[in-house]
Amino acid sequence: TITSISALEILDSRGNPTVRTYVTLEDGTKASASVPSGASTGQHEALELRDGEKRYAHKGVEKAVSHVNVEIAETLIGMNAVEQRNIDYTMIELDGTETKSKLGANAILGVSMAVAKAAAVTSNLPLYRYLGGSNATRIPVPCMNILNGGEHADNSVDFQEFMLVPNGAPNFKEGLRYVAETFHILKKILKGKGLATSVGDEGGFAPNCSSNEAAMELIITAINEAGYEPGKDLSIAIDSAANSFSQNLDNKYDLLSSGAGKMTTEELIDLSGKWLKKYPIVSWEDPLSEGDWDGFSEFTKKFGSQIEVVGDDIFVTNKKYIRKGIENKTANSALIKLNQIGTITETIEAIKMCREAGWRYFLSHRSGETEDTFLSDFAVAMDGGHLKAGSACRGERVAKYNRLLEIEHELGNRAEYRWK
Ligand code: PGA
Ligand code: ZN
Repeated sequence: TITSISALEILDSRGNPTVRTYVTLEDGTKASASVPSGASTGQHEALELRDGEKRYAHKGVEKAVSHVNVEIAETLIGMNAVEQRNIDYTMIELDGTETKSKLGANAILGVSMAVAKAAAVTSNLPLYRYLGGSNATRIPVPCMNILNGGEHADNSVDFQEFMLVPNGAPNFKEGLRYVAETFHILKKILKGKGLATSVGDEGGFAPNCSSNEAAMELIITAINEAGYEPGKDLSIAIDSAANSFSQNLDNKYDLLSSGAGKMTTEELIDLSGKWLKKYPIVSWEDPLSEGDWDGFSEFTKKFGSQIEVVGDDIFVTNKKYIRKGIENKTANSALIKLNQIGTITETIEAIKMCREAGWRYFLSHRSGETEDTFLSDFAVAMDGGHLKAGSACRGERVAKYNRLLEIEHELGNRAEYRWK
């Protein structure tokens, strides 16, 4: 039984306020959880409630904190923490809006996560096991964002994320090593070329490459110099985050950062096709903007049998949009971010919908994170097969990978690791 719920305004990895929530149970169990925050967000994401007052440049979350302390606490105290679905739907009803705009998704999700953590502790189970059952033994392939552009960097690269995918590694521990070694080699290469080696929000480098293609070439060179074979040991995943270079979210694009200029949907798809011929890309997220449903379908028709086509901003972890995507063959995978929808239960429902349609799903952090490692346990519990949690540096990113090392170690020879 839940005896207390409270929240605190803390800072995320960008130095912006976010919500940390505490839950106490009758047997003395205590748990806390912190919610992340995105920068390149989809239009239809659940609402992150910000105070809009002078403090923290309008970004304070005292209102969300108060909603946890008052309305949510009053309603949930006395409920059973193992009844996750009941608790989540009680909060959804209490909020009563489509986008959780009354209480704030940051208020609701923090409680949802802290309740699950407390329930796991009181059930004497690790979180991944509590949420995923005894079959939760697969450690996700870490797709690590080592080079950034778009809204995550101030450089001449339009695409937001270039990720290394250690899909040829025998296990997670080795996969992590492949990527970390390549990350350090890439740093050396950048330094040698007189390019910046400071890192962006997700721990990737943000060098001022002359073009998108130049960024890709640097990564391939780094893989080779690290002693790995591109396409065998290490492959590439891209998140174009095409919203950020589309005009009015329609199907016209302007690759401003690189100077590649204006492109139609068809031209952008053709360019992607050229890249797919040339580079070992296994997954491509948001290749088109969230308004370009037809373009997305065309992209999937052309390349969907070859690679994972992931919808992030277009689906926002929301069953309503994922359902539409399944009906229209818009993609073949959905990015999954807990705070896009705002409760664990709805996130699990979105994942189930993907599974039933034969889609993949790709668990993800946000560019604003905390040291909370809920995501790592959740990814194992959901049998996702792969996750993205940033690069091989920055504490809030590495914390997620370190937790996965722990889980793999704990599972011993029961741990599985494979791309598909
Ligand atoms: P965000 O970006 O967390 O800044 O929204 C991540 C992504 O687009 O996948
Ligand atoms: Zn994305």
